[in-house]
Amino acid sequence: ADTTKTVNQRLLLICELLENHVDYYNWVGFYFKNGDKNELKLGPYVGEPTDHIIIPFGKGICGQVALSNKNFVVPDVEEQDNYIACSITVKAEIVIPIFVNGENVGQIDIDSSTLNPFSSEDERFLEFVCELVSTII
Ligand code: SME
Repeated sequence: ADTTKTVNQRLLLICELLENHVDYYNWVGFYFKNGDKNELKLGPYVGEPTDHIIIPFGKGICGQVALSNKNFVVPDVEEQDNYIACSITVKAEIVIPIFVNGENVGQIDIDSSTLNPFSSEDERFLEFVCELVSTII
């Protein structure tokens, strides 16, 4: 039997590892640029299902990162004007872009039910995860 995992199976495993091993990572998922459209499409994720399968560039934290190419750490989602709520239990969010050949192709998005949980250690760690991801997609 062919036991090779698909890219999406691997990405789902990464979501599961992250969500299982860090107690304040409560929703972990990937968004990727949707073809040549100016929008993101939800990829593998773990956590509560979300209505936000498609996110236009510029909209919400994820849509802003699609344009800025920069990490976005949100200690308190209630302080954000341009934020898309997925669940009322979410208190904080971190989004880290994924680059392939210098191009912003997607991102890892993590929601937390803890207020202000993310440090620069999370940013460095998740940048490293995104670099690994860029080699398997
Ligand atoms: N909160 C995100 C939307 C995605 S959900 O967190 C899964 C945002 O503002 O872009």
